[in-house]
Amino acid sequence: MRTVISRSELSEALAQLPRPFALVPTMGALHAGHAALIAAAKTSAATVVVSIFVNPTQFANAEAVAQYPRSLAADKRLAEAAGAHLLFVPDVDQIYPPDEPVPAIDPGPLALRLEGASRPGHFAGVATVVSRLFDLVRPERAFFGAKDAQQVRIVEWLAKQRNDQIAIHRVATVRDSDGLALSSRNQMLSASGRTAAAKTIPVALSLVAEAFSSGVTSVALLRALAERVISAEPSLELQYLDFADGATLVPLSDRAQIGDAESGEVLVSLAASVDGVRLIDAISLP
Ligand code: PAJ
Repeated sequence: MRTVISRSELSEALAQLPRPFALVPTMGALHAGHAALIAAAKTSAATVVVSIFVNPTQFANAEAVAQYPRSLAADKRLAEAAGAHLLFVPDVDQIYPPDEPVPAIDPGPLALRLEGASRPGHFAGVATVVSRLFDLVRPERAFFGAKDAQQVRIVEWLAKQRNDQIAIHRVATVRDSDGLALSSRNQMLSASGRTAAAKTIPVALSLVAEAFSSGVTSVALLRALAERVISAEPSLELQYLDFADGATLVPLSDRAQIGDAESGEVLVSLAASVDGVRLIDAISLP
């Protein structure tokens, strides 16, 4: 695996590598969830490009950017072992050149609810950087995790807007043995916070999935099941527990049935804070 830093090195390296290209955008601090994306990319492309870039435009402030965990040496080992061929680790000037304005992309209504409600501008930052990476790599395919469900939906919207036939793949969430979805943020949890998160967040979502498979289709009933698990744990502060159409992300009312979603897919997503750490998770029904 080769590592490149500048745009010119990237295009030089790409010119030598066989198509199709698959791109796996990341912000580093790589774990087995990222490895699953890289492994999935490898099965469908001749060349797997992984990017590591802590994108300042998707964070609320410079402090949050500076606090993001960085582990480049370990990331290189993980990316290579998972099957990456090329690692692109640009600095900010390579993505946002001071003399070349990069137009911000506004994902519209998809970005306003859920994570977007508490992080204004976050998804515009994500869409802008992903679009920039698509321009620089020109991949045939790109891989994203289903855990960040709103993000992947917005990237699908972006790919359609761009109309350049980049296929977006969703990769199933990788979980630890206690059920908690892998995330670089898990490192910030105390031992008791970790236990509290693991016995509530994934459990609430699995209960919803199980009840749905055994025939419960009322949004109100499914929501009550999940809420009961979460409210039993006082150290967890629930920010939202949401049932929405998987395509439009428009919420389903408590009077609705799962089958009422026009796209045929319902996204059940939640955000909760433990120890001041905001965790998100999601599943899709059916
Ligand atoms: P990052 O948080 O590094 O995540 C990179 C990719 O890994 C995302 O597509 C995310 O959904 C996926 N991922 C994270 N945890 C996962 C897990 N447990 N199982 C499966 N996939 C998982 O998301 C970003 O970076 C950035 O917003 C980015 C898209 C790179 C734009 O800056």
